[in-house]
Amino acid sequence: MPRLAFIFIALVSFILSGGVEADASGKESYDFYCAQCHGDTGKGDGPNVTKDMPVTPRNFTNAAEMSKLSDTDLRNVIMDGGPALSKSAIMPPWSQTLTEGEVSELVKELRKMCKCKGK
Ligand code: HEC
Repeated sequence: MPRLAFIFIALVSFILSGGVEADASGKESYDFYCAQCHGDTGKGDGPNVTKDMPVTPRNFTNAAEMSKLSDTDLRNVIMDGGPALSKSAIMPPWSQTLTEGEVSELVKELRKMCKCKGK
């Protein structure tokens, strides 16, 4: 019996902690999905960026450029891809991959990188 109780407690705490469905943190999502183009530190210099790319990924540490975009702009472009802000489709849409919560965390992560606020 004590063993069953242990399994039960383990199961309940797993469910309460969100289990496998827990949203990734902004940093985790960034490193996994964005860094290959936007670079580890957000400078737009990830390993996937080649000289023949027609546009370079946004440098997220450029506060002057990043403060021109509202948090809603960032959200839209992350969810729907570059064309959402009349930008290049090389920036992929992520609404099928990331949850709403994860996108919010990513927006916060980008604001940390630029050390700026949206307009
Ligand atoms: C395949 C490469 C690639 C990946 C992966 C990628 N991006 Fe981009 N991203 C780009 C490019 C290229 C642009 C610039 C588009 C332009 O200027 O026309 C861009 C633009 C953006 C912009 C718009 C900035 C602006 O200038 O308006 C945001 C925000 C952004 N990316 C966030 C992200 C986030 C967050 C992720 C990860 C979930 C991500 N990107 C993954 C290539 C990528």
